[in-house]
Amino acid sequence: MTASTVPMIDPFGRTIDYLRVSVTDRCDFRCTYCMAEDMTFLPKKDLLSLEELDRLCTAFVEKGVRKLRLTGGEPLVRKNIMHLVRELSRHLKSGALEELTLTTNGSQLARFADELADCGVRRLNVSLDTLDPDKFRAITRWGHFGKVMEGLEAAERAGLKVKINAVALKGFNDGEIPEMLRWAHGRGMDMTVIETMPMGEIDADRTDQYLPLSLLRARLENEFTLTDIPFKTGGPARYVEIAETGGRLGFITPMTHNFCESCNRVRLTCTGTLYMCLGQEDAADLRQPLRASEGNELLHAAIDAAIGRKPKGHDFVIDRRTNRPSVSRHMSVTGG
Ligand code: GTP
Ligand code: 5AD
Ligand code: SF4
Repeated sequence: MTASTVPMIDPFGRTIDYLRVSVTDRCDFRCTYCMAEDMTFLPKKDLLSLEELDRLCTAFVEKGVRKLRLTGGEPLVRKNIMHLVRELSRHLKSGALEELTLTTNGSQLARFADELADCGVRRLNVSLDTLDPDKFRAITRWGHFGKVMEGLEAAERAGLKVKINAVALKGFNDGEIPEMLRWAHGRGMDMTVIETMPMGEIDADRTDQYLPLSLLRARLENEFTLTDIPFKTGGPARYVEIAETGGRLGFITPMTHNFCESCNRVRLTCTGTLYMCLGQEDAADLRQPLRASEGNELLHAAIDAAIGRKPKGHDFVIDRRTNRPSVSRHMSVTGG
């Protein structure tokens, strides 16, 4: 942040310094809790160009964003994505950005890990819900487990720190979390477990999949010694240290423990739509002010107006009575 920058502060006094950017809504997987098998994606003509995305991100950096995370869909399937990463890395060099990072499914990492490291990316979050190749195929529908493992190896070789994200799914991977923990920690990777959120129509019933992490934590405590630690990455996870493995495990609990009071982020889509909350429909169009002039004044004003109506939090519900998504868009529109 330059000395002249006024931080973005929302109506609830929260400083917004974390921008998540979904660079594409497309993905080479079809995870059953995330997407329906037959998805309609945005027509390519509606996408902002990489130059436009760079301009938008830069406007946010000028307004005090210190942490920028590229997401998708799968960010590494967007054509020429490394061009954007390379351009954005100038904000790391100038010191305006503290962190430039990605959340990825790992399928393309073998190709891109070296270049990401070269652009100043230090840390990646890789979504992985199981270590069993057959179950991996079942949950991602289209993914290849071996490719993700190659991607993780490439990331390790490139010196990238990896955090494994696993969505906890009842009857699917809950029994496997101890094994995944030992595996991740054995390789020097942190891990987070995530409660599934009711976003977008999927083919399955979310009530069947939903596992409150309070239950998982109680089960893990039979096997491991968990100690709460104040470790923070700027995301919503609350971390424990596991004595037996020496590693960290984070719990992301949008359903059982609402962390909205400490929310520091907004999310931009590949069409220039800004969502001020993951769990609300309200959004602001930034494409129009972006394209209306070459200067950034209109854009800054539109961003200020959007932050000025950031809601207090989400109203996610998963139960049999409700039985419909709390928001209509899929997670892949905003990448979480
Ligand atoms: P770190 O920088 O490693 O802390 O990452 P992060 O947790 O901010 O990001 P990541 O992309 O790894 O997201 C992990 C999970 O947290 C995903 O399922 C996201 O959807 C979820 N998540 C991130 N931000 C929010 C949020 O503001 N609200 C809710 N409900 N979930 C979020
Ligand atoms: N609920 C919770 N997490 C989800 N993800 C995708 N869909 C959902 C959902 N409905 C996770 C992915 C990835 C992150 C960006 O969001 O597994 O780790
Ligand atoms: Fe793709 Fe991630 Fe959604 Fe899976 S969870 S379909 S990898 S966007």
